[in-house]
Amino acid sequence: MQVDDDEEEGEEDEVVVEKGGGSRSKSAGGGKPLKRQKRARGGIEELRALQAYLREKVPVEAVFPSEKLHFNPTGDFKNHTADNTISVDGFLWDEADVDELVDAGKLPRNMCLECGSRSTAPLNFVSHSLSIPELNFIFNTQLAGVGGVSGGVVVDVGSRLGCVVYAAIVLGGAKEAVGVELNREMCKWQEVAFQQLGGAGGKARVICGDICDQADLLERARVTVLHNPFQFFTDVASAQMTWRKIASMIAPGSYIVASPPLCEQLEQAEDPLDWRAWVEEIETEYPIADDPDDEHAGEDGRLFTECVLYRVKAKIPFQ
Ligand SMILES: C[S@@+](CC[C@H](N)C(=O)[O-])C[C@H]1O[C@@H](n2cnc3c(N)ncnc32)[C@H](O)[C@@H]1O
Repeated sequence: MQVDDDEEEGEEDEVVVEKGGGSRSKSAGGGKPLKRQKRARGGIEELRALQAYLREKVPVEAVFPSEKLHFNPTGDFKNHTADNTISVDGFLWDEADVDELVDAGKLPRNMCLECGSRSTAPLNFVSHSLSIPELNFIFNTQLAGVGGVSGGVVVDVGSRLGCVVYAAIVLGGAKEAVGVELNREMCKWQEVAFQQLGGAGGKARVICGDICDQADLLERARVTVLHNPFQFFTDVASAQMTWRKIASMIAPGSYIVASPPLCEQLEQAEDPLDWRAWVEEIETEYPIADDPDDEHAGEDGRLFTECVLYRVKAKIPFQ
């Protein structure tokens, strides 16, 4: 693992959570707070530019005909089926945008239970990307608590539209951010968007391929992001093999940000490995939402609790 931060680490500081309720939370480390706050403001503008560019280019659902979605009924998604679920990209559209899309007739909210009748049921909405408030929380608060990613390498497993990769540079100040994505159409859109927006100074890139073939890259990562890469995109047998591969490659001492928590992601793949032998969870102090209806707030009012931080304890030999 390579960690050559170019900013000072280990200072006690206050971190401003700019989105999702404007709450403040205490955090240690992650570079100088003023520099980080300035980068956060500029970074959010750059992410909004990526969002605006991609909204014009990809379908509202941001799922392409070349993709076959899988429905493995576990955890929060146990009632989701191909018939009652619609994809709405959380990076491209927030809850208010979705209301506008529904009002404009560009997205359905309900499905007909008996065709032709008024008997309808609400559709499940599922996002395959992290939102801008989640990305801001991860890179400016959660990871700041363990020294941030400034000067390090960030890998996004299954990088889709590239928002995590871009955020790692423009919000986190990473030296290099690499997305690995299986779907060629998704890779193309990431490349086009990065080029269009200046590629975050040439530090953001995408590898079109399988994460299982990226041992060297994962070995170099300071942070690996695992935003539910397999649940909707592979069958259970492939997901199991991929989890075992990943756990044999990510460097001990590096960090993983998982959403939802690793135990839930692994349960979906019928627990191919014991996550407690692999990683230890790092406690995160989640901010409290000012608005209880905030789309990122749980029942207890805390924001972003689906994003969990881990330190890798050991590689698990592949078997
Ligand atoms: C839920 S999306 C994550 C998007 C992005 N990381 C984010 O948070 O915004 C998961 C992506 O992982 C990709 N994927 C699934 N299995 C993969 C694998 N073995 N190697 C690389 N990408 C994979 C899928 O094609 C899909 O685009």
